[in-house]
Amino acid sequence: MEKYPGKKNIAVFISGRGSNLKSLIKHSKKKNSLIKIILVISNNPDAEGLKYASKSKIKNYGIKFTKNSNFENSSLKLLKKYNIDILCLAGFMKILSGNFIKKFSKPILNIHPSLLPKYKGLNTHERAIKNKDRFAGSSIHKVTEKLDSGKVILQKKVKILKSDNVRSLEKKVLKIEHEIYPKAINKFLTNL
Ligand code: GRF
Repeated sequence: MEKYPGKKNIAVFISGRGSNLKSLIKHSKKKNSLIKIILVISNNPDAEGLKYASKSKIKNYGIKFTKNSNFENSSLKLLKKYNIDILCLAGFMKILSGNFIKKFSKPILNIHPSLLPKYKGLNTHERAIKNKDRFAGSSIHKVTEKLDSGKVILQKKVKILKSDNVRSLEKKVLKIEHEIYPKAINKFLTNL
């Protein structure tokens, strides 16, 4: 039996560009999609992604992350108000506290630009190139209190070519991210 039957209410947290948000919104509009994106929150009120959310007529809020608890408390209220079932982090550059994770009490997913458990944290592509890795990639994982350490739901590799630099690798990885985040959400909703 499906653990999460029907269309689920999704909130997305972002910090900037929002290209993953865009791909999730596009996916959510497909006929057989299992999700509705109904709320976008950014810790950066100037985030490009908020403009795209407005254009797509999705409720969105910029809440400065000056004091951790303010952002978290305001977001928790909104997540409750909009009856959110799953929170997806997409380029969200802040770390949510254990208290937030506990209080929200629903699944939180994150997309991370590395083949976890390799390269948790920042500068993933730089580290992969420096270590002469043959592959880079992206992972969608469950968010727990431990940074980038929750169960991996889906990941995909890309080859690192000799000619690659951080920028070219970022571009390649971003392309697969747009493909795998929607797939990972589907997998999460149907395979549990
Ligand atoms: C993505 O590469 C994601 O993995 C990382 O930050 C980037 C966000 O890009 N956490 P965007 O804002 O979705 O365009």
